[in-house]
Amino acid sequence: MKNFPEGFYWGAATASYQVEGFNENNDWAKAAKEGRVPPAGRLADHYHRYEEDFDIAKDLGHNAHRFSIEWGRIEPQEGVFDQEEIEHYRKVLKALHKRKITPFVTLWHFTLPLWFSESGGFERKDAPEVFARYCAFVAKELGDQCDHFSTMNEPNVFGSNGYLRGSWPPFKRFAATDLVSITNSGRMFESRADKGIRPFFLYLRVMKNLARTHNAGYDAIKKILPKADVGVVKHVIYFHANWNPFNKLKAAIANYSWTHIFMKRTYKKCDSIGLNYYFHKKFGDNAVYEKTDMDWDIYPEGIYGSLIMLWKYKKPIFVSEAGLADAQDIYRADYITRQVAAVEKAIDSGVDLRGHMYWSLFDNYEWALGIDKKFGLVEIDYKTLERKIRPSAWVYKELIEEAQKG
Ligand code: BGC
Repeated sequence: MKNFPEGFYWGAATASYQVEGFNENNDWAKAAKEGRVPPAGRLADHYHRYEEDFDIAKDLGHNAHRFSIEWGRIEPQEGVFDQEEIEHYRKVLKALHKRKITPFVTLWHFTLPLWFSESGGFERKDAPEVFARYCAFVAKELGDQCDHFSTMNEPNVFGSNGYLRGSWPPFKRFAATDLVSITNSGRMFESRADKGIRPFFLYLRVMKNLARTHNAGYDAIKKILPKADVGVVKHVIYFHANWNPFNKLKAAIANYSWTHIFMKRTYKKCDSIGLNYYFHKKFGDNAVYEKTDMDWDIYPEGIYGSLIMLWKYKKPIFVSEAGLADAQDIYRADYITRQVAAVEKAIDSGVDLRGHMYWSLFDNYEWALGIDKKFGLVEIDYKTLERKIRPSAWVYKELIEEAQKG
């Protein structure tokens, strides 16, 4: 593999609520107490076991790691910051540096501090300023330990699950969503949601506010750390089509709505863009695909089209997440191999790609689906907390080593 530039970042990603354990001060923990989503509890206990987990990442050949900071830990009440929790994340960052693993920090990955969600969350007009204050605090405290920040993870997924499908907090559902949904899984959550047409308008408002929030967060961080690499992590669905012009038009409209509306509002305030790729939808397609445990098509090649789509904004790109749920580890090695080949092809086509982070380093809490979906390179036994490296993780390591040889 000759195409990977020197210093390319190879690793995996996690997110605070999905792995740390006992994150109680947020909207998801509250929803769990109300029985609307599965409880999280101790999970992998990464909050206490990060040293051991980073040893594993090191053994697996990773030189980068993406994780998120839990906003509700850092700012437990509005405008009140917790110095002890900042110290915790400082230790986490130092533990990565000690192993020569470069950290990529996400400031907000789906969970909202309780005070923020209860006062309207991203429906709040002043959400951008509120978020920017938190970003500024983290940048000031941890800026000496980290050069790569993303303000937020997958704004469109947050908006559509929370305000259209009604499957995530704040559980607002616009039922017509199922007509265009590519997985239709919103129906599963129907009984838990507040329904009506209003969520649709709220969704539009929240999406606009999220773009403003990213822009404000970017400015706040750059004011303190002018040299830092700051961007957004964008979920891209690769919509494509067969020969039919009508299907091509559908794909273009879908890509515009899902990816470009948000990117057009924010790309000027991105030093780089993170790509999260999981699925594609081909209009007019008769092919039958093998499926992941999430029932998503096995089509890692779609990452190529997603990268080309984002490259329109001419910013360096990191693959910040891409992977599959595969409890038996049957498909993962082949999936990663094909994915890395597609990523290499994108570099060959001129995309300025800087890194590849597999989702996820280990098994975690898959949001409204709980802990049964296994995305990890490393398996977690939730009873004993034993970590077991899956065979595919070694295949990923070989690919990394091959790429590094040039
Ligand atoms: C999210 C992760 C999630 C993964 C798999 C991404 O949308 O950032 O938090 O676990 O997909 O569904």
